[in-house]
Formats: sequence, C-alpha cells, structure tokens
Amino acid sequence: MDRSRSFEIGTQPPLLYPPYGSTVKRAPERPLIQIPRQFNNLAAPLYGHLPMTGVDNDLTRQHDGEPLGERIVVSGRVLDEDGRAVPHTLVELWQCNAAGRYRHPRDNHPAPIDPNFSGAGRTVTDADGRYEFVTIKPGAYPWGNHPNAWRPAHIHFSLFGHSIASRLVTQMYFPNDPLFAYDPIYQSLRDERARERLVSKFDIGLTRPDWALGYRFDIVLRGRDSTPFEGRV
Ligand SMILES: [Fe+2]
Repeated sequence: MDRSRSFEIGTQPPLLYPPYGSTVKRAPERPLIQIPRQFNNLAAPLYGHLPMTGVDNDLTRQHDGEPLGERIVVSGRVLDEDGRAVPHTLVELWQCNAAGRYRHPRDNHPAPIDPNFSGAGRTVTDADGRYEFVTIKPGAYPWGNHPNAWRPAHIHFSLFGHSIASRLVTQMYFPNDPLFAYDPIYQSLRDERARERLVSKFDIGLTRPDWALGYRFDIVLRGRDSTPFEGRV
C-alpha cells in the first residue's frame, strides 16, 4: 500500500502506461497541483442545461425508431467503501452502437451509424443507490493504438457524486470477452480482482422475458473494493 494513495497499487489504472499510447501524451510530467479548496466545494451544475426526461435512461427510445442490435438492461448500485448506498447521484453513460461506431466526428472507421441511436444516457440513483439503463449491447471497435488493436465491448460511465470536483469516470465490460487479453486499457490494471470489478455480470433476475438480457454492474466509489476509475491519483 502506498500511504500517499487511498488505494492499493495495481487496483487503479496508472496515469502513464506506455502500451496505452494516449497516456504517454496526457500523463502529467510534473507534480500535481492542489486545487484551491473553494473549487472542491462547487456543487453545481450537475444536470447541464436540460431537465432530466423519461427517456434519458432508455437509449432505445430516444429517436423515432428502435436502434439495431441486442437490447440489454444495465443496472446496479452505487456504493461507498462500507457498502452503503449512494442515493441521488447522477450517473451518465456513453457508448458506441451495435456496429462499434460512435456518433462522433472523430470516429470515421467503416461501420454504419445508426440513425436511431445517439449512445448517451443519464439517470439518478434511487434511495438504495440503484440505477438502471436500457440500451443496446455495444460492438467492439478498432482504435489504432497498435497494429490490429480492438477495444473489447464496453460502456463508459461517469458518476458525479455531490459536486463536479468529485466526478469519477470508468468503463464497464461484458463477461468473457476474448479481447481482454489484447486490450492495454484493461491490462493496465495489474490486480486481477480489480479488473474483474470492471466486468458486468449476466443476471437472469434483471433479464426481461422476451425482451432484453440483463447485466449487473455495481460501482464502489472508494476503499478496498473500489471500482477502478480513470485518472485517479
Ligand atoms: Fe469507448
């Protein structure tokens, strides 16, 4: 355990991990600067300019038609280090479509855009810390990090806590993906159990008959069982 950190080495992704090329460009070269305390206390804005709507957590109902792909339910609880629920916290996600393409100007790899899928959603946890999304299972996509580089299917998550300064970002994967062994983002976590915390679990209880498979993904914000988060130092 490094006493200057709140987590054990290998359980959070390092800021610099050369096999993941982008970290070489963005990892800080100098010691980090403490943010003035008043910035840590900024409590707003949490929800952007638009109020939350009923389809914000259902990515299959945000357009006139249904998106193509395998419909899934993704649900779980946001918990603190003692396993207590973290209620009323904003959870956002973003992802590519079933073909592995983001609706983003920088993504121009040859896979189709789905006009019925934006790939972004948000919700707020309930009193038990529970969130739920309905979406489409994302595809794997090539990303140019190294020859024949493909990201395992994943969904990006952001959690806001009680202020912008407490925002945490991570990625959720799907069980038994053969690309784990080749993905330097996943592999940047040395601790096997920490890696597994990023992998959702198929859940027959969440699965809705004749409609959608369910995956459970609990998110632990701190402590020994913390979910790995990007950029945590
Ligand atoms: Fe991604």
